Amino acid sequence: MKTINIGMIGTGYVGLTSGACLAHIGHNVICVDNDEAKIKTLLRGEIPFYEPKLDQIVKENVQNGRLKFTTKISEAVKASTVLFIAVGTPPKETGEPDLSYVENVAKEIGEAMTDYKIIVEKSTVPVKTGEWVHETITRYNKRNIPFDVASNPEFLREGSAVGDFLEPDRVVVGVESEKAKQIMLDVYAPINGPVLVTDIKSAELIKHASNAFLSTKISFINAISIICELSGASVEKVAEGMGLDKRIGPSFLQAGVGYGGFCFPKDIMAFIRIAYELGYDYRLLKEVERINEEQKDRFVKKIEGLLWNLREKQIGVLGLAFKPNTDDMRFAPSIDIIAKLTAAGAKVKAYDPHSMDNAKKIITNIEYCNDPYEVVKDCDALAIITEWEEFKKLDLTKIKSLLKLPIVVDGRNIYDPKTMEQMGFIYRSIGR
Ligand code: UGA
Repeated sequence: MKTINIGMIGTGYVGLTSGACLAHIGHNVICVDNDEAKIKTLLRGEIPFYEPKLDQIVKENVQNGRLKFTTKISEAVKASTVLFIAVGTPPKETGEPDLSYVENVAKEIGEAMTDYKIIVEKSTVPVKTGEWVHETITRYNKRNIPFDVASNPEFLREGSAVGDFLEPDRVVVGVESEKAKQIMLDVYAPINGPVLVTDIKSAELIKHASNAFLSTKISFINAISIICELSGASVEKVAEGMGLDKRIGPSFLQAGVGYGGFCFPKDIMAFIRIAYELGYDYRLLKEVERINEEQKDRFVKKIEGLLWNLREKQIGVLGLAFKPNTDDMRFAPSIDIIAKLTAAGAKVKAYDPHSMDNAKKIITNIEYCNDPYEVVKDCDALAIITEWEEFKKLDLTKIKSLLKLPIVVDGRNIYDPKTMEQMGFIYRSIGR
């Protein structure tokens, strides 16, 4: 294999995972972040967030010298041929992504370049951002150094990002020159998975279209779950029956309290916005968003329906992160659900195995507990919001004896309705 010198600018979930994994497959990688405290943490071999397996890969590759960290973009530019831009693209009030971080990095790269570079968009950006990156680098590249822009969207899921990187369903590379194509193929040569080479705009669009489609699948099954509740069918059986059709597939058909995280909600907003700017009103995606919001409302109404009123009721919440195996609270359904519960006068006690430190910064008006049993003690109802493995193995007899009323409202369908009823619980789940 050819070893490539790579600069990874931005050490968030995407940048750090991609940088560490590229070092792991044999390249020399310098990760850059302007947050000095973060770089110090990483140099100590600590990871600033929870992501299974990532700490080990970072540690190994720092030790073998293939993974380095710096706060200076110019250092990475000097040492690398391929520069990935993996900085944040947070949503503005209007829903469109804030691309000023991407612009600043492009500017700094343009100023620092002294020999040929490929500048790769890794952050999720709207279609046609590549043109702006190209334009910005050209403006600041006073010495007229040759360069190429490329798009290489990431498809990593938090909680299984390392596995997704090393064994991907596909790698998408958008390029506009043969030289850039060859180097990008060298970067991914050690990875066992199909590589799709496209033009830059198509690569950019593949990312937004994929996340939009997956969100649509989730809202679709959530809408089906409502019809199941109204008709007496089971959403799990319906999803199983649909998923056996190879054209549909079984994944992303789990009904629940809706999707969250820093990808789907942000990307759907951005995609609706970019489509509008291009001249298309993407009403299908607006409906996907609306169904997702409605799902949280319906969950709270289910709890209220069992308790008559929420005022002064004590509700136990298990699970705060937007999904299991992450400590990420960004756009987590728990935030809106708890806000609705407390706005209606309920008191909330909560527990999450990994996200409580992050949750405490966002949700300040609830009591945080050390374990699930402390949560349920003297509660009028228990609400399950995230399907952590730990919650599937709880001692339900103990849970029942600790609850004031044996009411469980399960937003992720982790328990069997028959068993729960036999145990004497008043049990409600989603679409069953
Ligand atoms: C998602 C995509 O799956 C990745 O491919 C993509 O790279 C990433 O966004 C990104 O754009 O960076 P992630 O946000 O980590 O990854 O999480 P997912 O596992 O996709 O779950 C997203 C949300 O959908 C979670 O809240 C989850 O609970 C919910 N979900 C997922 C359901 O409600 N039902 C399902 O069947 C699947």
